[in-house]
Amino acid sequence: MTTLVTGAFGCIGAWVVRGLLSGGERPVVFDLADDPWRMRMIVADDVASRVTIVRGDITDREAVGAVVKKHGVRRIIHLAAWQVPLCRQDPPRGALVNVVGTANVFEAARAGQVERVVYASSAAVFGAPSLYPPGPVKDDAPWQPATHYGVYKAANEETARIYWEEHRVPSMGFRPLSVYGPGRDFGLTADPTLAMKAAVLGRRFQIRWGGSTDLIHVEDVARALLAAADSQLDGARAYNLHGASAAIADVVKLIGRAWPSAAGLIGHVEQPIPFPAALDDTRYQKDLGPAPPTSLEAGVRKTLDEFARLQKEGRLDARELA
Ligand SMILES: NC(=O)c1ccc[n+]([C@@H]2O[C@H](COP(=O)([O-])OP(=O)(O)OC[C@H]3O[C@@H](n4cnc5c(N)ncnc54)[C@H](O)[C@@H]3O)[C@@H](O)[C@H]2O)c1
Repeated sequence: MTTLVTGAFGCIGAWVVRGLLSGGERPVVFDLADDPWRMRMIVADDVASRVTIVRGDITDREAVGAVVKKHGVRRIIHLAAWQVPLCRQDPPRGALVNVVGTANVFEAARAGQVERVVYASSAAVFGAPSLYPPGPVKDDAPWQPATHYGVYKAANEETARIYWEEHRVPSMGFRPLSVYGPGRDFGLTADPTLAMKAAVLGRRFQIRWGGSTDLIHVEDVARALLAAADSQLDGARAYNLHGASAAIADVVKLIGRAWPSAAGLIGHVEQPIPFPAALDDTRYQKDLGPAPPTSLEAGVRKTLDEFARLQKEGRLDARELA
């Protein structure tokens, strides 16, 4: 049972690879980047010798098809994507990577008789909290994306549905909101993690936004993707993921409490982002749970401790804070 992980050099991908390796698999990883530094940081220095690395572009249909065929891939965990800022900077290229890239994955799955596609959608398919009734946003709440990125994710869920209806390719898509934890370093919602890294390094950091959001620890996201890859459920299913709904002001307080030497160094701007403050994950818990989320306090502590350990070992990469 070979699993292909696209975008494996990214934050969530590195944790997924770690999970697959600890389950005894040798995954095939596909990414455009040259240096798997996040995988080294999150898995181990020798990770490159324990996976099959294929360098390639998800927009290259032949390349995606070829990797599935050559390695007898049976499951795909598709994570390669551009985040919100890049999609905003270059919407046509963002659509190519995020939308056409996903169609390439489904097409390769169909042609290669892959048993299941698991992919990252996003809570960005939903819009600002004011557009929804009070309380957590439900799995079947109407899409009202506020960004190109959210529009592309909505398109991908529809692509998944058509591949099920026309070709019986089963799939599961997941909608996390603000993922945090080691490896998270790019995109607007990376700021809480960057603040934790700055705290460990004793540097100043200002989170560029505020309000409340649904913060989910990256290991909880990887756990959901891996459970989906193991599932036998059919259809084209899409799930909200839920971590902890919290005000950014409280995240700043939690960091200060857990890392007293950073008191006064971490701040935020009280500028809400146009995404929901909380998600309802009933559908995920019913199909693939129970999977209780990591509490914010435990997740912040875990992230700070991991950064401190990496710093001690001289392996804490802080290029994005430079
Ligand atoms: N991080 C979050 O908060 C969050 C929230 C919701 C959804 N998601 C989704 O989860 C998935 C993974 O997110 P992440 O945080 O790990 O992102 P990331 O930016 O850390 O990683 C994305 C990876 O995709 C690769 N990639 C980009 N363009 C590519 C291309 N053309 N061909 C091949 N590889 C390419 C990059 O090199 C990178 O390694 C994405 O689909 C993202 O949209 C993330």
